[in-house]
Amino acid sequence: MTAKLIKGTEIREEILEEVTREVAEIKEKHGRVPGLVTILVGENPASQSYVTLKIKTAHRVGFKEIQDTRSEDISEAELLALIDQYNKDDSINGILVQLPLPKHIDEKKVLNAIDPDKDVDGFHPVNVGRLMIGGDEVKFPPCTPAGIQEMIVRAGVETSGAETVVVGRSNIVGKPIANMMLQKGPGANSTVTVVHTRTKDMEAHCKRADILIVAAGVPGLVKPEWIKPGACVIDVGVNRVGEKPSKKDPSKMVAILQGDVDFDKAKEIAGSITPVPGGVGPMTITMLMRNTLRSLKYQLGIA
Ligand code: GUN
Repeated sequence: MTAKLIKGTEIREEILEEVTREVAEIKEKHGRVPGLVTILVGENPASQSYVTLKIKTAHRVGFKEIQDTRSEDISEAELLALIDQYNKDDSINGILVQLPLPKHIDEKKVLNAIDPDKDVDGFHPVNVGRLMIGGDEVKFPPCTPAGIQEMIVRAGVETSGAETVVVGRSNIVGKPIANMMLQKGPGANSTVTVVHTRTKDMEAHCKRADILIVAAGVPGLVKPEWIKPGACVIDVGVNRVGEKPSKKDPSKMVAILQGDVDFDKAKEIAGSITPVPGGVGPMTITMLMRNTLRSLKYQLGIA
């Protein structure tokens, strides 16, 4: 059997078109567009490329976008003052501080300083709490888990009553997606198990999974024989395992990416599966756009 491929690149295009259409409608009716600011501290090349892509996407869907880059030696107090300035700016609906931050800055303090009503990453404790409660309480679901749930739903996978097993317990992916899949409502209602580094028999749990979500950051952790035939496999791992010459420009080297699942073998067993790259990756920025649009809708009272 060859699994159905769940392509993040295709779902991204569908959702970005939906967002673009809605932005145009709101602009016409209310004379406003969503405003997104990305704050980047320092010159981490991976962070630079993520932020550039976020800003490019924001521009594409018709947002007002600001890339605010600050030097590595900005003080914590200066960064907090900058966040306060954007908190007070009514034209800004989303504030994203790109992580990681330099060591001299307390990441928790910075994330907690963002107005929860502009926290489009969904990292503020208020939004984490709202996610836990579920239903109407949720304002900004964190972007990668929201993207995962959207992919499962758009692939037509039944989640209600399904055994969903999440591998990994990070604050950004494992914990929130486990929480989202067990809520009441469409795209959820699953029976959820979370496995992690201290789990006694990870294999036995994975073998039971109708939906297997792997976010461990360990290349090839999940073996093909751990996959239940016909299961939906979501591979969140983006592991840089080497470099190769770029297809576009062979004089440039690009990263070789590998997921947490052995894709070539797993696709012969699973019912549906996300590739790496081109699976979950493109969904994160897409859901950031959706959250920022949602933030403007809350502000206008039309959500
Ligand atoms: N660094 C890596 N991923 C993310 C993300 O989703 N949001 C922020 N703010 N920083 C990140």
